[in-house]
Amino acid sequence: MAKPKTVYVCQQCGAIAARWAGRCAACGEWNTIVEEIAVEEGPHIRPSLQESTCPVPLTAGASPCGERLSTGLRECDRVLGGGVVPGSLTLLGGDPGIGKSTLMLQASWRVAGMNGRVLYVSGEESFDQMRLRASRLGAMSDDLLVFTETSLEAIRSEIVAGAYSLAVIDSIQSVYSSQLPALPGSIGQVRECANEFLRIAKGRNLPIFLVGHVTKDGAIAGPRLLEHLVDTVLYFEGEGKQALRILRCVKNRFGSTHEIGVFEMTQSGLREVENPSALFLTERPKGISGSVVIPSLEGTRPLLVEVQALVSDSHLGSPRRTVTGVNPNRVSLLLAILEKRAGLAFSDKDVFVNVVGGVFLEEPATDLTLALALASSLLNVAIDPRRAAFGEVGLAGEVRVVDGARQRIAEASKFGFTECILPRGCTDDLDAANVALAPVGDVMEAIQTAMEIPYGQRKAQTDKP
Ligand code: TYD
Ligand code: MG
Repeated sequence: MAKPKTVYVCQQCGAIAARWAGRCAACGEWNTIVEEIAVEEGPHIRPSLQESTCPVPLTAGASPCGERLSTGLRECDRVLGGGVVPGSLTLLGGDPGIGKSTLMLQASWRVAGMNGRVLYVSGEESFDQMRLRASRLGAMSDDLLVFTETSLEAIRSEIVAGAYSLAVIDSIQSVYSSQLPALPGSIGQVRECANEFLRIAKGRNLPIFLVGHVTKDGAIAGPRLLEHLVDTVLYFEGEGKQALRILRCVKNRFGSTHEIGVFEMTQSGLREVENPSALFLTERPKGISGSVVIPSLEGTRPLLVEVQALVSDSHLGSPRRTVTGVNPNRVSLLLAILEKRAGLAFSDKDVFVNVVGGVFLEEPATDLTLALALASSLLNVAIDPRRAAFGEVGLAGEVRVVDGARQRIAEASKFGFTECILPRGCTDDLDAANVALAPVGDVMEAIQTAMEIPYGQRKAQTDKP
């Protein structure tokens, strides 16, 4: 028997190579090339996404995004930009066990209640498992149909035959097309199946959710391919041991990518957290050095988050820098700035930084908060717990303007903060009723303001052996 022809396919970017290599020549990733059986290239005729293929002026017709479908979960709707757009393909990625299936089941049940039949394709869990979970979540409905099928052709004919308002594919890696010899979960299968779902979604104006696994290194299998293909990419993340879950949008063709949704995993499924600031601030220690709160702005929603730093004498040759919740490079940069511009020496200290609640703060406004937490811990001077701070710090130690000052201060005021340290340039046209504004121009001034100590005294403390 003739040996089947094989090709070598990069599982990261889908590039095809003639022979195996340790590193993909196209995307530069290591150890991603896998041998697959070659597909006979016949004359392919791909059905187009829409029936009409003639050019149409943009102004013609009604707005297609007008009627968004609510998922029944406010946090989820917000992240999607106000609901699911008909005909959109959304990818939901996340670590195993984080709660993707739970989230999708809860959303499907709500949609079924409001809009009628929903198809939940479960390629990983049996019908009994699904029913057990649904009864535990209280998500039983006649309009929520579970289809335990992994064949693309069977799923396609079911979607086309039944009138559904939403379809969920859990997971895209479990679906396979019998037209392709490649194994389920391989890049060829995932690409083909996702493409087919895209055609179904656009052709029938049906919103489809694809659940995607995350590989060891934190990427959805075949991430580049899928992320290009779909309209929206959501990540469901959280610390495995904690109940808090954050739904984050990394690509959205129908809205902003800055929004986050906050959930809490409970005995009876995911609960929406309407007021995350309150959650993040409970158990906050009072009168301890190294703790500062930032009114951060994730999308349109302000969020009060506590940033903690612990600076201690190091007994190691190269002191430790352990950082969670912010970019470690940013912390190194701030340590250098504090050393150079404010005379605070960290070179013989271990530095630990933590953001409470498992949140990851990406925005530059975190700089000033971090710098103050680090300085506070080094000097062992507590910052008044009713004082919040935000602002970007430049290399010269200057504190730079960030946007959304008004919303940040309003949130701080709502939670009883009485003073806010902020960039000098942010104070224009601000009318803070209950919060005293403390505008600062550089880190030095910020440290002095935050700790209410004159410079001479502060210097003396640092100089102590
Ligand atoms: P699941 O949705 O199966 O995760 P994924 O689909 O992302 O792999 O969630 C599984 C985890 O969620 C499991 O560890 C238990 C937890 N869980 C709860 O705590 N409460 C619940 O009501 C449910 C359904 C799950
Ligand atoms: Mg699952």
